[in-house]
Amino acid sequence: METIQHDIVIIGGGLAGLRAAIAAAETDPTLDIAVVSKVYPMRSHTVSAEGGAGAVIKPNDSLAEHIKDTITGSDWLADQDAVELFVNEAPDEMIRMEHWGCPWSREPDGSVAVRPFGGMTIERTWFAADKTGFHMLHTLFQTSLKYPTLTWYDEWFATRLLVENGRCQGVTAIEMRSGRLRLIAAGAVVLCTGGAGRVFPFTTNAAICTGDGMALASRVGVPLKDMEFVQYHPTGLPGTGILITEAARGEGGILVNKDGYRYLQDYGLGPPDPWPRLRAMELGPRDKLSQAFVKEQQKGRTIPGPHGDVVHLDIRHLGEKEIDERLPFVRELARNYVGIDPVHHPIPVRPVVHYMMGGVHTDVHGATPLPGLFAAGEVACVSINGANRLGSNSLPELLVFGARAGKAAATFALDHPQPDDAALAAQGRDEERRIAGGFLRKEGGTERIATLRNEMTRAMETGCGIYRDDGSLRSTVETLARLRERFARIRLADHSLTFNTELIAALELEFMLDVAEAVTHSALARTESRGSHQRTDYPRRDDARFLTHTLAHRTAGAPRIDYLDVVITRWPPAERVYGR
Ligand code: FUM
Repeated sequence: METIQHDIVIIGGGLAGLRAAIAAAETDPTLDIAVVSKVYPMRSHTVSAEGGAGAVIKPNDSLAEHIKDTITGSDWLADQDAVELFVNEAPDEMIRMEHWGCPWSREPDGSVAVRPFGGMTIERTWFAADKTGFHMLHTLFQTSLKYPTLTWYDEWFATRLLVENGRCQGVTAIEMRSGRLRLIAAGAVVLCTGGAGRVFPFTTNAAICTGDGMALASRVGVPLKDMEFVQYHPTGLPGTGILITEAARGEGGILVNKDGYRYLQDYGLGPPDPWPRLRAMELGPRDKLSQAFVKEQQKGRTIPGPHGDVVHLDIRHLGEKEIDERLPFVRELARNYVGIDPVHHPIPVRPVVHYMMGGVHTDVHGATPLPGLFAAGEVACVSINGANRLGSNSLPELLVFGARAGKAAATFALDHPQPDDAALAAQGRDEERRIAGGFLRKEGGTERIATLRNEMTRAMETGCGIYRDDGSLRSTVETLARLRERFARIRLADHSLTFNTELIAALELEFMLDVAEAVTHSALARTESRGSHQRTDYPRRDDARFLTHTLAHRTAGAPRIDYLDVVITRWPPAERVYGR
């Protein structure tokens, strides 16, 4: 098998991966850096981020307020040292984006415009209309092209991390065009592969968000942290799960039930007036809004539809001019995907899986416990999001921790000798045999990918959704164990090499099963309710036992769970209050 040598390999070409690549290239221009991505970088999931990126910029705002909002939003599960550092560094990263050409929306006086976002005390979300991720990704991609030391491996699919002498020294990846497995050896590896929303059936996440990096890391012994915390965004389009951005509510949109009543006032988020109000009603945090939907549904006050119950998001009062100026994409999506023009009609919406707060355990430099392996972005858990991420903290998180991981990887690669090719080659040959024997040349399997994937996603939604309990989680754990057994009997219809997307789907399903197991076992073990993890059998937050991060370690059987204390510095846990 051909071995390709680089100093650093970055897996993932979205915002975190590109920011890491630029930071590594700027740390030392002699470093030879590979960016491996299973799609063209401009098709990474960052492109679908809509509403904006939060960072302190206005004179009425302060770093202290952003820190406090983030910690409260996290239900005190975020590490406070990491949050402080994140909030302090986010403004510089955002200004750097401006210098690199990001077309931020402006106030009439020409300064950068900000809008309110859920759970934030002050307007601090920068935006580029409602296509913020698209513009940020373009900006970074164009900027990255000026670094001659970056080599691009687009449409290459990473299958295994290579560990030799106790450190990560490379990756095997399928070049999808030829179907050949290649070995990329490197002094440091950075995972920037994004989230795992596709473990659930109804998600805002692109089809590529299959938890690849999480599974790759856990297979080489790195724990997955806080995986039980899965964020539902309150406003997805029924059927497709396409996101209707929180910016719609930031601009003044309201949520009403079947009686036209602003039901959020019944769930500790009111009163509704004066309106719109920060940290209240429609600008409450996502976990609480999604939970309110379920309660409203249980009361029979939601609106039945062909794809399940919905409530209405009403932005008609903003008027056509403002909608076209501030929320053009919301209008486009509603027209194209539910046949509704929001200038004239309310938009049907329901909660939808949006973001994994958990991920690969890292420190604030993106370093995992495995030397040579780094992670940044949604794949990682630093943690600044704790039990519930605030909307618009994720784009600046990609920049701040992408840059940090890139720098740390560069320093590590400079300090460590070139990988041991012969030892790595043996691992590469093993991986070749695994893929050929387990998938491409396998005879006699009976199970189909789509069947197993549908059963997995259904089990996750039923047993591990917005509300969970011991029974529902145990039943999901059992289903996943059975699916794991059945996966061994998987059968591919396509045995060819060129763009074998069926093979990729099988490998992705295997990754997703790993992630799903980590989520459910972590959720089963956390017998309290906090943020997005709501146990109907343990409805209270239990700081005495669970002011801790969950660490899920992969084993031959069920994941082994242990815990790590949350870093509390200056903000002691308190009651999480909104709407007042
Ligand atoms: O609603 C949104 O625009 C999502 C933003 C985010 O997840 O940060």
